[in-house]
Amino acid sequence: MPSNSTKILLLTTLMSGVLVSVSSNSWLGAWMGLEINLMSFIPLMSNVKNMYNTEASLKYFIVQVLASATLLFMVVMKTLTEDLFTLDENAYTPMIICTPLLLKSGAAPLHWWFPGVMEGLSWENCALLMTVQKAAPLMLMSYLIEINTFTLSIILMSTVVGAIGGLNQTSMRKILTYSSINHTGWMLIALTMGENLWMAYFMVYSTLALTVVSAIKLSGASFINQTMMTNKEATLVKFMMFTSLLSLGGLPPFLGFLPKWIVIQAMIMNSLAPMATLMVVTSLITLYYYLKISYSSFMILNTEPKWNLSSYKSKKTSNTKALTLSSISLTGMMVCTIIANIY
Ligand SMILES: *[C@@H]1O[C@H](CO)[C@@H](O)[C@H](O)[C@H]1NC(C)=O
Repeated sequence: MPSNSTKILLLTTLMSGVLVSVSSNSWLGAWMGLEINLMSFIPLMSNVKNMYNTEASLKYFIVQVLASATLLFMVVMKTLTEDLFTLDENAYTPMIICTPLLLKSGAAPLHWWFPGVMEGLSWENCALLMTVQKAAPLMLMSYLIEINTFTLSIILMSTVVGAIGGLNQTSMRKILTYSSINHTGWMLIALTMGENLWMAYFMVYSTLALTVVSAIKLSGASFINQTMMTNKEATLVKFMMFTSLLSLGGLPPFLGFLPKWIVIQAMIMNSLAPMATLMVVTSLITLYYYLKISYSSFMILNTEPKWNLSSYKSKKTSNTKALTLSSISLTGMMVCTIIANIY
């Protein structure tokens, strides 16, 4: 495990990698930023005392290096084959350059590494992997993406895999992974309709992912069945965990519905209503099983032990953090709607 000062250093270089990548004006610079970002994340993940962390960091390293090497190769090929006089570009070039970036961000047909890597990580690293690590590849994709059969099928596959993959999962990390794959699909469609839309979606999604992770961390449960037996004092934590999960699933009164609403509206205005319908249908599957696990954990299968040796002790700071974040996730959309209607 890296020491605290090493962690600060690595987090700084990780963020600078993202910044270098999104602000560079050549593909070579963008590739370099991605590489800086990757080389800072690997030592953050690995841990000598935990075999699973090391395994996950190795898997992540191999996949991401494959993607970076492919990206570099494609970029060099593009430069070498470009016709200098006519500036002709092959119609497939944007899609070909997009593919390694899709692999990096974990969109559907290239998502296979994602569940395995997430399963072996600590919650902090899971949160990083779901949010910050997606920023640079998605931002780079915004230079290339356009609405065509390729993009639409990637998006549809991401939302379907996210919805079907999460069915019958009991591991919280797996559920969050499939939710992340699904949200990558929604972020890609937001990206085709403008960077601001994507930015709004990404901000809200990152906040919600952080909320869920901090509530789950507080509860100490890695699997759904561990939430079914709780002491009286821990019911608040359980409440925060499941309401923020439902918010992440886009259930209407919560904040998670806001970006979904905006994206659906933008899609209809861009005459993408059939696609919007398909995506909403997949989100209904998701909401069905999210509601099922929340309902059974709160009502049917809930038991309270009469005695408990290890009484629940909450850490004050992380409790406050989770409380603040989950009250944002609970009331965020209602507050936004009220403010928008007053003016
Ligand atoms: C996918 O995202 C949509 C929109 O936010 C949401 O309604 C749906 O529940 C999500 N599905 C999963 C698996 O998270």
